[in-house]
Amino acid sequence: MRISFIDLNAQYKELKKDIDLAIKEVIKRGDFILGKDLRLFEEEFARFCNAKYAVGLNSGTDALFLALKSLGIGPDDEVIVPAFTFIATSLAVSYTGARPVFVDIREDTYNINPEGIKKVITKNTKAIIPVHLFGQPADMPKILELAKEYNLKVIEDSAQAHGARIRMEGCWRKVGAIGDIGCFSLYPTKNLSAMGDGGIIVTNAERIYKKILMLRDYGRVSRYKHIIIGYNSRLDTIQAGILRVKLKRLDKWNLMRRRIARLYDRLLKDIPQIITPYVSPDVKHVYHLYVIRTKLRDKLLKVFNKKGIPALIHYPIPLHLQKVYKNLGYKKGDFPVAEKVASQILSLPMYPHLKEEQVRFIVGILKQVRN
Ligand SMILES: Cc1ncc(COP(=O)(O)O)c(C=O)c1O
Repeated sequence: MRISFIDLNAQYKELKKDIDLAIKEVIKRGDFILGKDLRLFEEEFARFCNAKYAVGLNSGTDALFLALKSLGIGPDDEVIVPAFTFIATSLAVSYTGARPVFVDIREDTYNINPEGIKKVITKNTKAIIPVHLFGQPADMPKILELAKEYNLKVIEDSAQAHGARIRMEGCWRKVGAIGDIGCFSLYPTKNLSAMGDGGIIVTNAERIYKKILMLRDYGRVSRYKHIIIGYNSRLDTIQAGILRVKLKRLDKWNLMRRRIARLYDRLLKDIPQIITPYVSPDVKHVYHLYVIRTKLRDKLLKVFNKKGIPALIHYPIPLHLQKVYKNLGYKKGDFPVAEKVASQILSLPMYPHLKEEQVRFIVGILKQVRN
């Protein structure tokens, strides 16, 4: 049976007519930069997140970087990030000249452990970047409480969690609009994806919104009047046109992901060596990735490779052990949960159009692997 890790063509097939039309319309208008579809996508995405404002950007990495810049974070500042995430989370901190300060994760959700945050707060700490890893919201109530107590900003790295929700004080809140700024990647494999690079931030603060509008467009206030060091980081109008079409399907696709996850959960639940994803009762997980944990990971990966089943490791090396961060002085053993999880996790194929028989086939192969 042919199975891919993700099938982007299936999304295109579902929406081909509308996507083709959206692209043609932009070409006809010629408003490739800061055009009509970008403005409309920003309005629609802000509404989707229940946020007041959104700004479309070049990438999720730029979204994090410009979010930090908009808060005035730079050299001598410290920003708290989880030790286990995609490296863009901490790279964005490094770009500003600030120091990323790592914190271990929870063993159940794989998200940053709020218990560890308090211990690393210093007088230089300016912000926390919780990551809603794999599509499951981080523990935002506890993180917001700490941020309030220590006067820290909260930037949500929502790159993997478009549409994920968390119950706070009895209300379901979408990720991104809970902290001060929410940063999303629109990279082709993400739950909401462009056909190329893209990113977007959401915020409820007008001051931050206006600053990021400037930062993404050479720091200008009018055509040739520049008041801050800005960048070129705009989301292309063509991408925004495509994203507007896909945004209408996002809730449905997230539901399809949740349904596939439930099927995996059910089929895997009686295999003693496999830990299926734990989901906190107060969240709606959107399964950007379906990640299992097992001591048999390396054996399993070999069998999958042999049978042509594409499974991947997100992520094999925690950030504190990455060579690039050697200068920060961390060592093996500093974040035992992140290290253990990194050595045992495996992401199984997951995308909205994955079929039940494909899931059953994958699980069938998985069951053949024994101690
Ligand atoms: C958690 C996380 N943060 C940030 C990023 C960066 O996004 P991008 O690839 O759009 O720059 C990604 C995705 O690649 C990610 O998974």
